[in-house]
Amino acid sequence: MRSKIAGIGYYVPKNVFTNNDLIKYMDTSDEWIQERTGIKERRYADRTGETTTTMGVEAASIAIERAGITPQDIDFIVFATLSPDYYFPGCGVLLQRAMKMKEIGALDVRNQCSGFVYALSVADQFIRSGMYKNILVVGSEKHSFGMDFSTRGRNISVIFGDGAGAVVLQPTEDANRGILSTHLHSDGESAEILAMYNPGTHANHWKETKYADFKDAEMGEMFMSHEMIDHAQNFPYMDGQAVFKKAVVKFPEVIIEALNANHLTPADIKVLIPHQANLRISQFVQHKLGLRDDQVYNNIQKYGNTTAASIPIALCEVWEQGRIKEGDLVCLAAFGSGFTWASALLRW
Ligand SMILES: CC(C)(COP(=O)(O)OP(=O)(O)OC[C@H]1O[C@@H](n2cnc3c(N)ncnc32)[C@H](O)[C@@H]1OP(=O)(O)O)[C@@H](O)C(=O)NCCC(=O)NCCS
Repeated sequence: MRSKIAGIGYYVPKNVFTNNDLIKYMDTSDEWIQERTGIKERRYADRTGETTTTMGVEAASIAIERAGITPQDIDFIVFATLSPDYYFPGCGVLLQRAMKMKEIGALDVRNQCSGFVYALSVADQFIRSGMYKNILVVGSEKHSFGMDFSTRGRNISVIFGDGAGAVVLQPTEDANRGILSTHLHSDGESAEILAMYNPGTHANHWKETKYADFKDAEMGEMFMSHEMIDHAQNFPYMDGQAVFKKAVVKFPEVIIEALNANHLTPADIKVLIPHQANLRISQFVQHKLGLRDDQVYNNIQKYGNTTAASIPIALCEVWEQGRIKEGDLVCLAAFGSGFTWASALLRW
């Protein structure tokens, strides 16, 4: 038994922020952003009216309807995000509550840009084992809540955007359809290269670099402190060049791994949906694999990098445009913070 995508949906906030809109807050330019990343604009969630979970609910509602079922038919939730509504509990239970689902299992996945492919892989195993019949897999992010919109944080804040995507996985006995395989990897050696250190419990344990300032108190006052905020240690950090160099190696590697495992070649791919990290990374991967333009889908130009949401949003757009038909080979691939990277190969 394999699992197939029975329904898919996405949601992006209405609020469009162009590169020129960012100039009000930081020293940057439309030219710099487009040249380095390909991004023209991104969406930002309503500041108080939308959360990572509510956007996930919007995407999930569409996916569930398209699968021809109701929220009460869902028997497991896997929710991938790095920007949860609460530090804990995770978004999975908030979605379960908001969608009035039964008292089903809800699992949160914290694998950043690879989160959706990891989540899909977990769901795939539950379907293959026969444990569940309708699994909702969600990737959603509200990055706009906590980025540094001053010039200090511009290398990150121009890249990331908000949005959500979701799929419903169901079992299929059709040998010509479904998820063929998933491939998951990690290398924690570079964990601090793309990370949000605070709030956290690390207490400067892992590196020589002092990632957090806090008082030498007898108890507490370490998880989040006034000192951290005064020193702007509450924002994400990224060494962009180091990420870029690793990404252009690991993306092709994990795609080839998936193809080899299924005795297929790049020429067999109808469409590759790379996680939308940076248009230059996607173009590099396309070139390395010798793929034509029509074999690779990119939408980072209009949404920026939406982390766990980027793959399901792009997959949904490709499907809505009628570019994938039953039996077509679709490859999903992701790389991100951790580092973690992953791929999935499926017959639509
Ligand atoms: C982030 C990224 C676009 C930066 O491009 P880059 O060519 O590596 O640029 P650098 O970081 O070397 O910075 C070059 C200069 O541009 C400046 N700069 C950084 N962000 C800027 C911005 N938004 N606008 C204008 N200038 C900016 C830097 O301060 C630096 O200035 P300096 O030379 O005076 O010190 C690029 O490294 C990248 O895309 N990396 C991958 C990131 C990624 O995919 N992350 C998500 C992983 S899932």
